[in-house]
Amino acid sequence: MSDAIKIVYETGAEILEDAAGLRARADAAKERLYAGDMDFTGWVNYAARLPEDLLSDIERTADEIAARCKYFVVIGIGGSYLGARAALSFVDRADSKATAGRPEVLFAGFNVSGTYHANLIDKIKDDDVCLLIISKSGGTLEPSVAFLALKKLLTEKYGREEALSRIYAITDEHNGKLRAESDNNGYKTFILPPDIGGRYSVISPVGLLPLKAAGVDIRALLAGAVSAESEEMIDLAKKFASVRAVLEQKKTVETFAFFDPSVEDFTAWSLQLFGESEGKDGRGVLPVGVGISRDLHSLGQFFQDGRQIFYETLLFIENPTHDITVSGEDAGDYTGRSFSEFNRAVLEGMAKAHRAVDIPIIRVFIPENSAYAFGQLVYVFELTCAITGLLMGVNPFDQPGVEAYKKGMLDYLRK
Ligand code: PA5
Repeated sequence: MSDAIKIVYETGAEILEDAAGLRARADAAKERLYAGDMDFTGWVNYAARLPEDLLSDIERTADEIAARCKYFVVIGIGGSYLGARAALSFVDRADSKATAGRPEVLFAGFNVSGTYHANLIDKIKDDDVCLLIISKSGGTLEPSVAFLALKKLLTEKYGREEALSRIYAITDEHNGKLRAESDNNGYKTFILPPDIGGRYSVISPVGLLPLKAAGVDIRALLAGAVSAESEEMIDLAKKFASVRAVLEQKKTVETFAFFDPSVEDFTAWSLQLFGESEGKDGRGVLPVGVGISRDLHSLGQFFQDGRQIFYETLLFIENPTHDITVSGEDAGDYTGRSFSEFNRAVLEGMAKAHRAVDIPIIRVFIPENSAYAFGQLVYVFELTCAITGLLMGVNPFDQPGVEAYKKGMLDYLRK
């Protein structure tokens, strides 16, 4: 079994004392989430409850997809694609022997750029393709439009009957346009459980089907998520949530800084999770993604010397899968030192500089780039986010603000 996630706080004693004062409320929030009577808490303990026949169906279907295509295009937006993309970037698939012969997973429908989708179609048009459309509501404009364009490609390429057999869907069990279309056209479908919202859905068919198709060890990912339910890990999430709830009263921005590009898409997933769950009723901190070292040479000036509106959450991989040691006649003092040592030096240098100007720092140490670590990380973050929201007194499971732009967009299109 791999090491577990560790979180280290350099936030100052006062913040930690205030967070400790929230302990009883954090305990109560956790109990509420686990009680099973709160709306949209179906993701709680889901990995442990996932029925074996559903998991086997996901695996069988993913293997069928892998055998049928070179490109597997996942169409969705927000919680319907960010989690799978995060895992695909994060999990080093050199640790899994299952990737040979697996399709490349591509994403569509998270924007409506004609250039993006024309280039995508151009890339895939001469090879075998399968589609997965994921939409809980079944009617979100961006994925719906992308689906229309990609369905047309498939129909022209394979003829109607085969094209339909290459389309897979994940949607609500009963409602929505996509459910009706899936039933009419006989798509192979999986259900997005009604009590799991998009941004909490990566550990459900939404994430598991594309990940298995790409060769990710989803049983290890599920085991990682289950491991995050130990008393120790739940305590870790409760403390993280309490510290974040205290910082929410003092700061307006949380920077999520990643030190390895494999964590960039996980950061994007985190921004959705925290931003959409906590930013409401005039509350919340704005989550911002920061790439290290890159952004130390641009935003670094602001961090050190600008308006102190933020605290930072540093996402650091402790044991990278690969490393390089510097050598050569001009390597001088760097001879024999590894990239991971340099990355650690960046972390320590940044933390020292930021401590000097009183920036509160939370260090999240992720053990490795494995499917197991990803599952654990996702569940710890989901639990942290939900508990923080409850401590703040907001509903961490709705997103009323997202509807406003959709209405404006549809009004514009109707004109
Ligand atoms: O977290 C959420 O619920 C949202 O981000 C949705 O996933 C996103 O808006 C896409 O919605 P749908 O799956 O209904 O197309």
